[in-house]
Amino acid sequence: MSSRTPLIAGNWKMHKGVADTSAFIEALLQSGPWEAVDVVVCPPFTSLAQAAMLLTDAGAGLGAQNVHWEETGAFTGEVSAAMLTELGVQWAIVGHSERRTLFGETDQTTLKRAACGQRADLTVICCVGETLAEREAGQTFTVLDRQIDGLEALDPGKLVLAYEPVWAIGTGRTATTEQAQEAHAFLRRRLERAFGPAAADALRILYGGSLKPSNAHELLAQPDVDGGLIGGASLDVDSFSAIIRAAADCAAGD
Ligand code: PGA
Repeated sequence: MSSRTPLIAGNWKMHKGVADTSAFIEALLQSGPWEAVDVVVCPPFTSLAQAAMLLTDAGAGLGAQNVHWEETGAFTGEVSAAMLTELGVQWAIVGHSERRTLFGETDQTTLKRAACGQRADLTVICCVGETLAEREAGQTFTVLDRQIDGLEALDPGKLVLAYEPVWAIGTGRTATTEQAQEAHAFLRRRLERAFGPAAADALRILYGGSLKPSNAHELLAQPDVDGGLIGGASLDVDSFSAIIRAAADCAAGD
């Protein structure tokens, strides 16, 4: 890992209502504060207010799992950036593969969501990643290239990229350290073209896809892997805390 502060973000997906959110955050805060690692939790929308209350001044960030590209309007089921920031949310995930495959999100809607989130001062975690069919057809880099096309319109200071190979999400199948590092290095080169070397060097690229305590250290130790976006293993305080510790160890060079 580099001089970039590692970021460990938990994507709870459609898990944990208000009561479970309180119990989780109270237990998580026992293992903080975290000196060398940035920690973010992304509960469902309905649990954000409760999480915000518990996380005030606690040293962990709060993220939403999506954000709409308009400020208000007739967009049933959507939530605007201002609604999130009013609650104290500082982060938003955009373009998660479940949003792309199950809910019709595209590269274009992902970019619009990211831009609008940034305008409201949210830091966006923009997800990219190829399917198994795309990897097997040798199209991984073409797909990543397409997914980040247009990213140069965003503010690199409020951007985090998450490389999440779709075939590794929730499957127990993880990218090898070589596959992860290769994809992250590719993305960093593209970020250099978009933002210049200094901004690309400062920008964090997270790995996501069955990241868990048993594989966290080896993945997080890769030079271009700057943390993780964690689904299943972020739902349990012990495993999430173990991943945070692995990130801190890697940052310390252990
Ligand atoms: P997973 O999910 O850790 O359960 O594979 C990661 C994600 O979807 O962000």
